Amino acid sequence: MKPRAGSFMVTPFSVSTPQSSPCEGHDIFLHLGDSIDRRQRERPLGLVSNFVTDELPHCIAEIKCSERPDEAVKALGRSVNAMIAASDYDALLQSLPQPDFEIAKTDIQYLVNCAYQMSAFAGLHPLDAELTVGEALSRLARSSCDRQPGIEVLSYEDMILTNPLQNDPRVYCLGAAGVEERDFCLGHQIIESELQSAMDALLDLRDAAEVDAGQCLALCLARLESANYILTRFYEHMSPDLFGQFRVFYGKNPYKNTLGPSGRFSARMVAVSVLLLGEELFHQKPQFYRDLYRLSEYYPQKCIHEVFRWLSSDNGSAPIKPGWLEGKAEFPRLATISPIMEHHGGEIGRLRASCICALDRFTLKHRSTALKYTVEPGRPIVGVEVSENVEAVLSQRLLTEAGR
Ligand code: HEM
Repeated sequence: MKPRAGSFMVTPFSVSTPQSSPCEGHDIFLHLGDSIDRRQRERPLGLVSNFVTDELPHCIAEIKCSERPDEAVKALGRSVNAMIAASDYDALLQSLPQPDFEIAKTDIQYLVNCAYQMSAFAGLHPLDAELTVGEALSRLARSSCDRQPGIEVLSYEDMILTNPLQNDPRVYCLGAAGVEERDFCLGHQIIESELQSAMDALLDLRDAAEVDAGQCLALCLARLESANYILTRFYEHMSPDLFGQFRVFYGKNPYKNTLGPSGRFSARMVAVSVLLLGEELFHQKPQFYRDLYRLSEYYPQKCIHEVFRWLSSDNGSAPIKPGWLEGKAEFPRLATISPIMEHHGGEIGRLRASCICALDRFTLKHRSTALKYTVEPGRPIVGVEVSENVEAVLSQRLLTEAGR
């Protein structure tokens, strides 16, 4: 496949380094050794990165078993802020090259999120929670968002795409729960890399002249099957108990009306869905697109803006609701592979149907997974609007048979 102009960067990602243990997801959740192997340190913010990576999980564990968690969490906030105030971290942050900056932003957002979640655990009043986050950390967090716009909370991009999970992961838990947490993130990261390949194949089919349509769709299908395989590992091997231990850190911000990081904000999942069946989705599930524009800030910005660009008639990428979503224009079919399919015969049509079927199997398997780990054990899931009702979200990309 040829490299394409305008395609966005894939985070450099190797799933099969010879010495890497969780390779291509075959052994995630196996707990081959219950400690995290940090083979190459990624510490762009020096002491602050060291703290997040090496000490934060211990501090959390201490607060959890402290007799006065309220005092313990406030003390954590004070020491983090003192550490940040002791050096010009803002200047350091601004001077970092982009890949290091992204890890630094992740470190900062891991700290902010921890301060809020642990404040809630300790029952702090909102004002005390803000004091715990602290002035120096808040300023640094704002500054990181000025350089890279997006939602000002720990995002899916921070947690899954930027987090250096293979060599120096950021996690909140210790021991087995920390290893499970790392594998949870790593499984998502591996699926993201499969989705990127599926998306590249579909973009080749849509945009490049003289490509072999059958080859593009076969590649897309293989990648989606591989994503299904990894998702099945979640369903079959992840421990509900260990999941419960780390999940609390990735929920909604308990003091703000903001959502937590979630696979829901996988822009590549959106991209693959739009390319494969964007028009059908629009006719049957317009809420999928409404949520996409409404929650655009939560998605990895580069990728979602690329999708918005496909979907906008004037080629702008601003996440304003386009006219077609309000019935003022036709759906932009050119964003999808549908027009290309019209030039091909039955065999190519069947391959596309197999890709759609593989994507649907992912959605259905994911739905059972979400129910098994969150809804059935009664772990609270709260959105910010009615359309975030978990049932509605989990079937927002499923088409009815009749509509195919
Ligand atoms: C054990 C693993 C997982 C659990 C328990 C889980 C749970 C959930 C829940 C509860 C939701 C509803 C919205 C929310 O609360 O954020 C959701 C949405 C979503 N998740 Fe997951 N998830 C898991 C793994 C994954 C993976 C690996 C992906 C792959 C990228 C993913 C992609 C999505 C998507 C795309 C949505 C939006 C609904 C849809 O379009 O199907 N999830 N997930």
